[in-house]
Amino acid sequence: MSDPDRTTSLEAFARDHLARLDETSLRRHLVPTMRGPQAAATRQGRSLVSFSCNDYLGLSQDPRVIAAAQAATALYGTGAGASRLVTGSHPPLAALEERLATHKGTEAALVFGSGYLANLGIVSGLAGPRDLILVDALGHSCLWAGARLSGAKVLRFAHNDLGDLEALLTKHRSRHQHALILTERVYSMDGDRGPIADILHLADAHDAWTLVDDAHGLGVIGKDARAPLEMGTLSKTLGSYGGYLCASRAVVDLMTSRARSFVYTTGLPPASAAAALAALDIVEAEPDFAARPLALARRFTAQLGLPEAQSPIVPILVGEADAALGLSAALEEQGYLVVAIRPPTVPAGTARLRVAFSAAHTEAQVEGLAEAVMGQWPRTLPPLRERVRETYAAAVDSPPARSCASLTTPT
Ligand SMILES: Cc1ncc(COP(=O)(O)O)c(C=O)c1O
Repeated sequence: MSDPDRTTSLEAFARDHLARLDETSLRRHLVPTMRGPQAAATRQGRSLVSFSCNDYLGLSQDPRVIAAAQAATALYGTGAGASRLVTGSHPPLAALEERLATHKGTEAALVFGSGYLANLGIVSGLAGPRDLILVDALGHSCLWAGARLSGAKVLRFAHNDLGDLEALLTKHRSRHQHALILTERVYSMDGDRGPIADILHLADAHDAWTLVDDAHGLGVIGKDARAPLEMGTLSKTLGSYGGYLCASRAVVDLMTSRARSFVYTTGLPPASAAAALAALDIVEAEPDFAARPLALARRFTAQLGLPEAQSPIVPILVGEADAALGLSAALEEQGYLVVAIRPPTVPAGTARLRVAFSAAHTEAQVEGLAEAVMGQWPRTLPPLRERVRETYAAAVDSPPARSCASLTTPT
């Protein structure tokens, strides 16, 4: 029997790291939270309006989506039973893949267990040690994880910087068998958009493949150029859970046999697939409703005098982690849940509030939040109002030459 009072090296390791996270205000805590319709969230008995949720259309609470999930559970059960290569695809999954492919205009689609798993499997399934992967400096953690897992040579290009991307392709492409570019349609922590059409053009010129992560764009930002590899998640606008790849039939068939995070894991539950399918119906049938989060985000940026929102995500850059936590806590006191985002999710020195708008918000709630933010600037962060504007402008509007090479790698 081990002595419960003895400090093992494992315990020492965990405690030491937690202490360092505490010192730098970077420790994470789980907070019991009840989510409800109309962007409502209840925490510690307090009713809040959530501006921290990626449920951009509020569809996770929509009665039609809930009913679809319930019906699928009643018909097919709660779980997929095993990997889809073993137990097969339950009917809602096959229907969802067909609909996703139609929505994206591709020949085929493949649903994964989550967006994170999708990127792990797609990137490492397509690229290997003889290949080159170029990742936008602000690319999501799962793009970097997939790239590293592949064993390919991985290079970062400065955020949205076509000149840097082209220079890297010119210098390195010829020494590798294949090249893969990883970008996002909407950057999850900055809300700005990747220059997809230009990247595709560059990729063609250098015989590179482009994967666009559309986790935050699907349905809510209008039309954009389509990449040969379009991946995304069912967990944000579609209000469900799971990830997907939309691509040619050959690529999807290859991933079905080769993407390890597809082959060696259990299929998505029927309820998740059916919910996403019902949500996709709503996205396609109600374009005005789907445009609402972006319109509300623009109302907010106009009210605060910030650069116009490019997506339903608006960052309020604060700088240091403790200051971001302070601003978040002050807003929570006034009834708004706007969670602070800290390193390593974002680069060091760019802790922020990430405001996410939903069709479920009312205009009055958006205006109320803007006023609350304005009210906090002079009080909790005296010199910050101008700095927030400047930092935001630097992050979103700067010429593409802005190099992130010196910033912490987002992981
Ligand atoms: C850009 C981006 N890609 C991928 C993912 C992963 O998606 P999922 O939550 O389905 O794992 C996220 C989620 O946070 C994301 O923001």
